[in-house]
Amino acid sequence: MSALWTIDAMAAAMRADKSGALPAEVPGLSIDSRSVAKGEAFFAITGDNRNGHDFVETALKAGAGLAVVARIKRAQFAAEAPLLAVDDVLGALSDLARATRSRSDAKVIAVTGSVGKTSTKEALLLALGADGETHASAASYNNHWGVPLSLARCPASAKYAVFEIGMSHAGEITPLTKLVRPHVAIITTIAPVHLEFFGTLTKIADAKAEIFAGIEPGGAAVLNRDNRQYAHLARAAAAAGVTRIVSFGENAKADARLLRHSLQADCSTVEARILGQRVTYKLGAPGKHLVLNSLAVLAAAALAGADLALAALALNNLKPASGRGTRATLRLPGGSALLIDESYNANPASMRAAIALLGQAAVGPQGRRIAVLGDMLELGAQGPALHRGLAEPIAAVGVDLVFCSGPLMHALWQALPSGSRGGYAETAAGLEPAVLAAIRAGDALMVKGSLGSKMGPIVKALERQFARPAAFEPAPAVPN
Ligand SMILES: Nc1ncnc2c1ncn2[C@@H]1O[C@H](COP(=O)(O)OP(=O)(O)OP(=O)(O)O)[C@@H](O)[C@H]1O
Ligand SMILES: [Mg+2]
Repeated sequence: MSALWTIDAMAAAMRADKSGALPAEVPGLSIDSRSVAKGEAFFAITGDNRNGHDFVETALKAGAGLAVVARIKRAQFAAEAPLLAVDDVLGALSDLARATRSRSDAKVIAVTGSVGKTSTKEALLLALGADGETHASAASYNNHWGVPLSLARCPASAKYAVFEIGMSHAGEITPLTKLVRPHVAIITTIAPVHLEFFGTLTKIADAKAEIFAGIEPGGAAVLNRDNRQYAHLARAAAAAGVTRIVSFGENAKADARLLRHSLQADCSTVEARILGQRVTYKLGAPGKHLVLNSLAVLAAAALAGADLALAALALNNLKPASGRGTRATLRLPGGSALLIDESYNANPASMRAAIALLGQAAVGPQGRRIAVLGDMLELGAQGPALHRGLAEPIAAVGVDLVFCSGPLMHALWQALPSGSRGGYAETAAGLEPAVLAAIRAGDALMVKGSLGSKMGPIVKALERQFARPAAFEPAPAVPN
């Protein structure tokens, strides 16, 4: 495995003191002693609840090549321990990230937006990876430590690099985009997420618009033409000095425009015009939201100079990210049922996308479409109305039965026609038995809610209960 960083270059970038039996180089960087790989540099970051310095010894025992620690903590560790000592560990990680960006020849793409950042980042990884070596952030590493860590992990040889940038408060994106210095910045969409901290969609748009501050001279902003905040964002981009604004969507004026599409139960086919070039492609995962994201992906790929045909072809391999539409087959007496796991998180935009996905799902002859929904959090005063408002898409796509948990979902529950009320409970745990009892062969069932609504355990319970062969199946013959 080739080195990510030589120790000399790393120490210079971080203005670190070297001590102990240091290796010559490291293959990677880690901030988690549980997953640190052999030889990696472990950064002892101090988080809200834990101090990374408490895990330095564990990380070194687990195979870390060295640890980056604060100078004032240096004395806690053995003299021969392989350490780089710095004033501030998170600051040093950002310094290393800055050095990574300076040494890199990669075309850099940053992705922000209220929803769809990870989905878009993963699609970019596929699309650009078809053209050349592509580095991308892991998971949703999009905050004050996730972005510097992801950037500092970028190999010098990468041709493309993709970074997710997130925020829950104004001012958070500015330092991150200035670190990443993207050539292309995508804002997927603006939607009511973290609304309680912002109050209005315009303020959410303003916070996302901070991404423009870091765009490289001559770089481009890729914006959702179908979103109500489009004009506002385009003005903000221009005001920040961005000269190239590229729009995507269904709108006839979009530069990356959806011409035709067909939504199937487990994939989509798309015809689009991307910056003047017509492309036809298949997306390996279903949902209109992913179709729209793919327009931004291909626009960004074209702007980054990638081969558009190869990029589009690669999207055939798209898979939903974990908990964002992942599918499992449940085995029940008399047949199987489809479980769509959307339990990763929820807000009004992704909830509507998931309800549409359920509406598209194939069901058996007697099968029903069942939604199991937990509260969408952090919506502030508009919370109850945004929950109640889901009754309309639920009816429009033909969901047969709805199970709800949580105080906010009670507003939806009351708005549902009695025929589609499956069950209500105060908590997800309280709802679980009713869901387990309701599912039958042929059904398609989708589970979604904010992380804090704890819908994940319902998915786990369904998988546990119905994963094994149903009881009536003959046991395999055992030789005796
Ligand atoms: N353009 C979109 N519109 C609506 N929903 C979307 C869109 N793209 C993805 N989703 C759905 O939103 C949910 C979250 O997707 P994803 O993880 O990509 O978002 P994210 O912005 O990275 O979220 P986070 O802020 O938690 O990192 C998933 O259920 C996904 O299917
Ligand atoms: Mg994410």
